[in-house]
Amino acid sequence: MSVAPRAGNGKVTVPDILSRKSHSLGSNETKGRITCLTAYDYPTARLLDEAGVDVLLVGDSLGMAVLGYDSTLPVTVDDILYHTRAVRRGTRRALLVADMPFGSFHVSIEETIRNAVRLVKEGGAEAVKLEGGERRIELIAKLVEAEIPVMGHIGLTPQSLHALGGFQVQGKTAEAARQVERDARAVEAAGAFSVVLESMPRDLAARITAKLRIPTIGIGAGPECDGQILVFHDLVGLTIGHKPKFVRQYADLSAEVSRAVAEYCHDVREGRFPSDAESYHSPAELRERLPAPQRP
Ligand code: KIV
Repeated sequence: MSVAPRAGNGKVTVPDILSRKSHSLGSNETKGRITCLTAYDYPTARLLDEAGVDVLLVGDSLGMAVLGYDSTLPVTVDDILYHTRAVRRGTRRALLVADMPFGSFHVSIEETIRNAVRLVKEGGAEAVKLEGGERRIELIAKLVEAEIPVMGHIGLTPQSLHALGGFQVQGKTAEAARQVERDARAVEAAGAFSVVLESMPRDLAARITAKLRIPTIGIGAGPECDGQILVFHDLVGLTIGHKPKFVRQYADLSAEVSRAVAEYCHDVREGRFPSDAESYHSPAELRERLPAPQRP
């Protein structure tokens, strides 16, 4: 069972995220920009939440980042639910958003709402994110009507991998750019409280950001967006395989983990771990009565 977060004490809410739009509109003010990261487990959620990240997304990127799939397509509602519960337990301040995975909103409106309700009710999510623009208008409106706040996601939508023919930058022709702009307006009109703009030219994302009343959250969409999101594993250097151009790696945890584990193995093999200080001892009077240990 999830623990419902309380508003107040700096808790980030959906209205807070909406109100942050004005902070970046027409000014060079950068303090108001919205910070978002993915999280898939309890300790990471605690660390990110305590560090002051505004939005934690249990993204379907978990399929590639932690489950070892080569795309996000195999991720299920149960996968997202399991990880959302863990993140819920570690999150106090940040807004918790759960991703709607591939197949969870493609069959019918009823099934979409049922899946989203599970993420809120059983997972403790405060909002859901779903991929797609114009063609998702009805779904987004129905979810909002059902009191489930929606974060849109347009541009490169990884669940459309096969239809798009790969993970490519979107909106690079005049017609493609117009479609991305139409998608942005559609998502806003349907009632989404924010929209992720993924992998598109900076000037296109800037134009969309200037036109919309809801905040844009960029990933590979340049610095003019109202907020930014990255996959946590990319940020700290835990990603295995391709790293997109837009990722800035702030730490190299893979190297640090490899070094620590090699050192541990060496110490165990050499009998240097554990030390006496890292061992438990029988009470002195008992030790005196027992024979001293002898190695065979
Ligand atoms: O699944 C995910 O993590 C995402 C973000 C990268 C936007 O969709």
